[in-house]
Amino acid sequence: MTTQFIGKENFTIHTQTVSESCPSNIALIKYWGKYDNQIPANPSISYTLNHCKTNTSMEFLADEPFSVQTFLSGNEEVKFAEKIEKYFRNIEQYLPWILKGKYIIRTENTFPHSSGIASSASGFGAIAKCLMALDETFTGKISEEESLRKASFLARLGSGSACRSLYNGLIVWGETEEVQGSSDLFAVPYPDAEIHEVFKSFNDWVLLIHEGQKSVSSTVGHGLMKTNSYAERRFQEARENFVPMKEILKSGDMERFIKLVEHEALTLHAMMMMSDPAFILMKTGTLEVINKIWDFRRETELPLFFTLDAGANVHLLFPSDASEEQIKTFIETELLQHTQKNGVVKDVMRF
Ligand code: PMV
Repeated sequence: MTTQFIGKENFTIHTQTVSESCPSNIALIKYWGKYDNQIPANPSISYTLNHCKTNTSMEFLADEPFSVQTFLSGNEEVKFAEKIEKYFRNIEQYLPWILKGKYIIRTENTFPHSSGIASSASGFGAIAKCLMALDETFTGKISEEESLRKASFLARLGSGSACRSLYNGLIVWGETEEVQGSSDLFAVPYPDAEIHEVFKSFNDWVLLIHEGQKSVSSTVGHGLMKTNSYAERRFQEARENFVPMKEILKSGDMERFIKLVEHEALTLHAMMMMSDPAFILMKTGTLEVINKIWDFRRETELPLFFTLDAGANVHLLFPSDASEEQIKTFIETELLQHTQKNGVVKDVMRF
């Protein structure tokens, strides 16, 4: 199944530096639970962000003993280097030259560190793009389509949701008969012709409710789905949710979109609460913001809604249309007070 990604055995390596950038993404139908080799337990769909990015430069020193050194915003990160070293060893069959040199990787995020914005998605996305840039100079050029697909395949092996960050727009990862060409191995863009205009111009303002290290990593969280007695039902529901999602994206039905996206976010956190051991990543501020959003929607009928990642922060979603100024004012005056340090990252979806 993975033969199309096996690397060429003929290559000529040389010392060189490449630089790439990759945005983060936010899932609407969530991936939570996986099988071996980063195979997702259910399909997911996400929006790719625009401003929240990782910029990475990768210096490859050919013929030096294999080692990895990483710097995050100029500071050496030994733990991250160990993770990348393990990752590179793991993907050798797809890039047979990968262990034949030393790496110095410098990476910077355009969003605050530990803000809860998925830096592993943009981070592994950028690393995978750097690897493909090196691969092309060592083994010859391939089409942009093939290169992106392999970058998505490689990014997935670093962090599952990273595979969706390689493309702009609405992106699907995980096989579903609702999306032609979808795969468990890499992400594919959702067909543009099937997306109503209202979903192509969207805001995502991330309220930084709680800055700092998460109490449970996503690796542990995925692992706990293995013993969660609700897991199979959840995976089935996520698969089923692709049916209404497809209709909604085509018709532009905002009310159903809001209901489905919020339900997905709450289900993700419900799964955490029903794990053994249970864990809760939402904070008081998360719940206060959710309740205020619901009150605001009841009072104004304006399309402000939320989704959540595996953390306390709230992603505020709203279309760029006539209602956006009123929504922005409400966020600034009513919701910002629930963040730790007036922290908000104002992003838009990248199409
Ligand atoms: O890619 P990971 O292993 O960090 O998992 C991410 C999972 C969620 O962000 C919670 C959901 C998703 O689909 O992105």
